[in-house]
Amino acid sequence: MKVLLTGANGMLGHDMAKLFESKGFKVILTDIHNLDITDKNVVINKIFKEQPDIVIHGAAYTNVDGAETDKETAFMVNGAGTENLAIATAQNDIPIVYISTDYVFDGTKKSPYQPEDKVAPINVYGDSKLAGEAAVQKHNSKHYICRTSWLYGHHGKNFVETMIQLGSSRDELKVVADQVGCPTWTFDLAKAVLHLIENKMEYGIYHTCGGGSTSWYGFAKKIFELEKIKVNLMPCNTEEFPRPANRPRYSIMNNNNLCQDWEKALEGYLSLRKEVITT
Ligand SMILES: NC(=O)c1ccc[n+]([C@@H]2O[C@H](COP(=O)([O-])OP(=O)(O)OC[C@H]3O[C@@H](n4cnc5c(N)ncnc54)[C@H](OP(=O)(O)O)[C@@H]3O)[C@@H](O)[C@H]2O)c1
Repeated sequence: MKVLLTGANGMLGHDMAKLFESKGFKVILTDIHNLDITDKNVVINKIFKEQPDIVIHGAAYTNVDGAETDKETAFMVNGAGTENLAIATAQNDIPIVYISTDYVFDGTKKSPYQPEDKVAPINVYGDSKLAGEAAVQKHNSKHYICRTSWLYGHHGKNFVETMIQLGSSRDELKVVADQVGCPTWTFDLAKAVLHLIENKMEYGIYHTCGGGSTSWYGFAKKIFELEKIKVNLMPCNTEEFPRPANRPRYSIMNNNNLCQDWEKALEGYLSLRKEVITT
């Protein structure tokens, strides 16, 4: 089976490519240098020429704070770029997997978000990713929309690495405790996508995030505990760390057991981390 992957050089892209290749898929790796998704003709021609069995679309403009001032690029990549892929895949009757985000929700719910819950983004990035969801739904009925959250992986800048670096170089640290969500290891997300494809699950929206939930503070605490890092960790409020983009306070999604619990995933990530760093 032939898979065309966008955003192959990104944090998720690395793990997605590795997993699918290890399972015997032929993976066509694309990123901005050889498939700029904002160029409609390039996208149409590439999909027509390659005729993959499925497209996994992980490419995105992912700078959440930057999107607040660079709305045009965020929408061009996440909205129009995704629409180009949705049109090109539909023209060739190819299913598409679109990686989306918990930021399509406003975070006011008090119980885990379900795929069919009302969407209402509170920042530009969330808005632009939602435009991508709408484009996929409009043009290609053969779609999996996989909403994920709080991603970390061995091949990208992420919260786990930031905490290890800060915790090892400071005596004390304040981390936001009033935002809760579901940390997700990119490798688990890749496995969840593989599961949907291999089991020919019904097309639609899925929540592919880590199981369970925590706050950023709780996440940091677990990282320090597992890495045996001694630092005075203190909880704080969102207001103490103002950021350009609003973040949903409550970002917990029901994942229907598509990914393992976040604590187990973190253990897995950390146990492989040193190996990855030295190779
Ligand atoms: N990170 C998170 O916490 C998180 C949470 C929820 C959902 N997601 C979604 O998960 C997916 C993967 O995220 P990630 O953190 O792995 O992203 P990432 O590391 O930023 O990777 C995204 C990739 O897309 C590429 N890209 C950007 N513009 C492009 C264009 N016009 N054409 C083709 N490729 C382009 C980027 O290239 P450059 O680096 O050269 O720009 C990069 O290689 C994204 O769809 C993201 O929206 C992420």
